[in-house]
Amino acid sequence: MDKNNGSKEESGIQSVLHEERVFSPPPESSSRSPRWLINSKEEYERLYEESISDPATFYGRIASELSWFTPWKTVLEQKSAGSVLDTEWFVGGTLNLCYNGADRHVEAGFGDDTALVWESEPLNEDGSPEVRTLTYRDLQEQSARLGAALKDLGVQKGEIVTIYMGMVPELAISLLACARIGAAHSVIFGGFSAQAIADRIEDAQSRVVITADGLFRRGKIVPLKEKVDEAIDTLGASSVEHVISLTRCKNATAHQKRDHDYHSLLERFQDTPCPCEPLGAEEMSFLLYTSGSTGKPKGIQHSVGGYLVHAYLTAKYVFNLIPDSGQTFWCTADIGWITGHTYILYGILPNRVPTLLYEGAPDFPEKDRLWDIIERHQVTQFYTAPTAIRAFMKWGDEFPKRRDLSSLQVIGSVGEPINPEAWIWYYETIGAGKCPLVDTYWQTETGGHVITPLPGVTPTKPGSCAHPFFGIDAAVVDRTGREVAPNEGGLLVIRKPWPGMLRGVYGDRKRFLETYWSTVTIDGEPVYTAGDGARKDDDGYFWIMGRIDDVINVSGHRLGTMEIESALVSHSAVVEAAVVGMPHEVKGTGITAFVTLSPQEAERTGNLEALRDKIREHIAKEIGSIAKPDSIRFTDALPKTRSGKIMRRLLRDIASGKEEIAQDTSTLEDFSVLADLKEQDSS
Ligand code: WTA
Repeated sequence: MDKNNGSKEESGIQSVLHEERVFSPPPESSSRSPRWLINSKEEYERLYEESISDPATFYGRIASELSWFTPWKTVLEQKSAGSVLDTEWFVGGTLNLCYNGADRHVEAGFGDDTALVWESEPLNEDGSPEVRTLTYRDLQEQSARLGAALKDLGVQKGEIVTIYMGMVPELAISLLACARIGAAHSVIFGGFSAQAIADRIEDAQSRVVITADGLFRRGKIVPLKEKVDEAIDTLGASSVEHVISLTRCKNATAHQKRDHDYHSLLERFQDTPCPCEPLGAEEMSFLLYTSGSTGKPKGIQHSVGGYLVHAYLTAKYVFNLIPDSGQTFWCTADIGWITGHTYILYGILPNRVPTLLYEGAPDFPEKDRLWDIIERHQVTQFYTAPTAIRAFMKWGDEFPKRRDLSSLQVIGSVGEPINPEAWIWYYETIGAGKCPLVDTYWQTETGGHVITPLPGVTPTKPGSCAHPFFGIDAAVVDRTGREVAPNEGGLLVIRKPWPGMLRGVYGDRKRFLETYWSTVTIDGEPVYTAGDGARKDDDGYFWIMGRIDDVINVSGHRLGTMEIESALVSHSAVVEAAVVGMPHEVKGTGITAFVTLSPQEAERTGNLEALRDKIREHIAKEIGSIAKPDSIRFTDALPKTRSGKIMRRLLRDIASGKEEIAQDTSTLEDFSVLADLKEQDSS
């Protein structure tokens, strides 16, 4: 380990991080892994070179490790040489995601092997959790029953089924059942509100929703079906004809004519054959809604063939997955996010390594729950988010120290930049300095990892996601598309097509083109713009510097500032609002809302604290608890430029304490003087 801190001047996007420690991967002999799939720099470089210069050969070889019903005719078809947008992958091939995750292993004789291990949050009287183990055959049979039931309800290939459940095995089965029959799923994270559900159902025009009576979180029941009913009955999700509901929490709701009980429904389809539907490689596998910088959330649309190849390939090499070697992979994300889609299910199952699903909170009943799970299930790969790591750090070392974590081989991080302090803590306290730490950069849109270390070869630097993965031509450029000098900040772009790339924004081609394909053009061709700022250091390591659009990344969840602002102004006391990110010890970035009250409300100026609580509750209802502002600051007006633009940079500085204008934030803030001053420099 070398330690040597430097500092360099940068132009454009500013980076404040200068971390130069380097950690080499443990050599094969001292590693806890049975072996490294890629263990030399030469091999890595050879494969990377091939993946970029001859993607047809590289990806054709990888794709043939999976099962296809009809082989593809061409690996990739670009609209013209050098174009990235609208590339088609594995053209002519047909396959099925569920078949690749379950059936093919059954057919190869691994039907009785463990595919999924699930652990409940609530504990039995003796203090032990409920554990359910599902084999590949279980996944095959249960997805076939639910698939047959969905078909019986009239679900057609290509239609979108909405899923809103907690982290239970039936959630995994629901996704697989959709995949099995060729329906696309749209999973909504269990923390979202009825309004958010209604918006998503309406956009997708789902006729069928799969939900549950509730989910367990820190010993409490969070209702789910109630919110689905509210979305349908009062918030306009009128396309829904059938609601399938799983009983998990004995939290019955009023029975509606459209309701079906999950288990009773499946019983009726015990013996109905439901083979995996062959799907064209470019057909839609799923939609996943993500916040945008404007208005309503966008349905990110993924393919079947390219998505699966990318998910499988990245899972295999980034986590070093080796079947039959006793590994158990655990990703702590919720299936409602892309991380759960790709690295709980679709990337892990085809690799034939058991995947672990935990139902609840990391601190229930105690703050050592995750470490207890690692010890009991002998978890070998552990994948979590910086916000969680910072919370673990805050809770203290005593909790991980209570448990034996020596089964771990590789540890990973995803969702936002990981600060070096959290990186070192994770590496040393959880990984005992013996497990490579893979800081994986990617997005809902990329389908799987795009910039990441590989565990057996990449020397890692705390805070850097290292190098582009195979096939990914990532670069840091200026607005003209020219690569910027080392250590200079710029826009992160991807200049060549990759199989896991999003295929569209559902029903909105214009938004798809505007959001991802209109910022940077190289040689006349639009390249993919991720919306993140980045820099590359002298050794070619990438450092992500955060969002450049109006999106804030809170605890690894992307929230559009516009969306929160419109939710704020829908509260009767609020006339105008601006939302910005601010540094937050645990969440990485927290939300500060600057709010102008209606004159009547401002007159009252009674109990501002109570008003803050009401506004927060309102946001929870409109969007979900994750979007609740950490700080609400009242102001008589928002600082604006002459052209009427809210001066967000100024607000960001104020929110992060760089600029202090009012000592007491519980009173109304007066921006006029400062705004006047600032306006002069920006006009
Ligand atoms: C951020 C999550 C730095 C980034 C898979 C990106 C990261 C957004 C990292 C995508 C990382 C994700 N280092 N930043 N390792 N991983 N991000 O769509 O801003 O929920 O654009 O996908 O998270 O978030 P999303």
